[in-house]
Amino acid sequence: MSPKFTRNAISNIKSTGTFFPSSRFLANKISRLIPDNVTNVVELGAGNGAVTKSLLAHMSADASLDCYEINAEFIKLLKNNVSDERLTILERSALEIANDFGNDAIDVVVSCLPLALFNDSMKEELMAEIHKSLKPGGLFIQYQYSLKDRKFINKYFAKNTLKFVLRNAPPAFIYLCEK
Ligand SMILES: C[S@@+](CC[C@H](N)C(=O)[O-])C[C@H]1O[C@@H](n2cnc3c(N)ncnc32)[C@H](O)[C@@H]1O
Repeated sequence: MSPKFTRNAISNIKSTGTFFPSSRFLANKISRLIPDNVTNVVELGAGNGAVTKSLLAHMSADASLDCYEINAEFIKLLKNNVSDERLTILERSALEIANDFGNDAIDVVVSCLPLALFNDSMKEELMAEIHKSLKPGGLFIQYQYSLKDRKFINKYFAKNTLKFVLRNAPPAFIYLCEK
């Protein structure tokens, strides 16, 4: 557990959606879904880097990882916790993804965003932006603590499968989707 993460998450619960960073079991399960040959991965909502570190450990030496994060305290923790020349930290909203990368540009988008806290129009906008920015055949991976937003995922990613990770607080579902 990370006391700094929890302290910051409690004060910003409306944008973090959890009190704890992802467990190494959840981070590993997400990272193992990433194919070996990818060249670019984008993480949305990196927090203190719990998933970021695991993604980097699974990615090849010449792949790049771009991470979005809006919380200044998490950005500081992320910079202290993860040092890797493949990593770029984008200190702005994940909703900028299609603006930043353009269409059909990204191999894998991993979203740790608290979808349950977003209103419907934000969820629609986010799904549309992610879909646009992925290469054809690219993967979108989202974890969530309930299946509440399945309809948004299904609407934008007809091809998707669901996984479950018990060893996380709280236990989590992972959507694995293909464009
Ligand atoms: C559930 S936490 C996940 C943190 C970390 N990736 C993990 O799995 O432990 C969600 C993160 O998304 C960030 N976040 C929320 N809205 C965001 C947005 N619009 N753009 C970028 N990051 C956002 C929060 O600040 C928080 O760090």
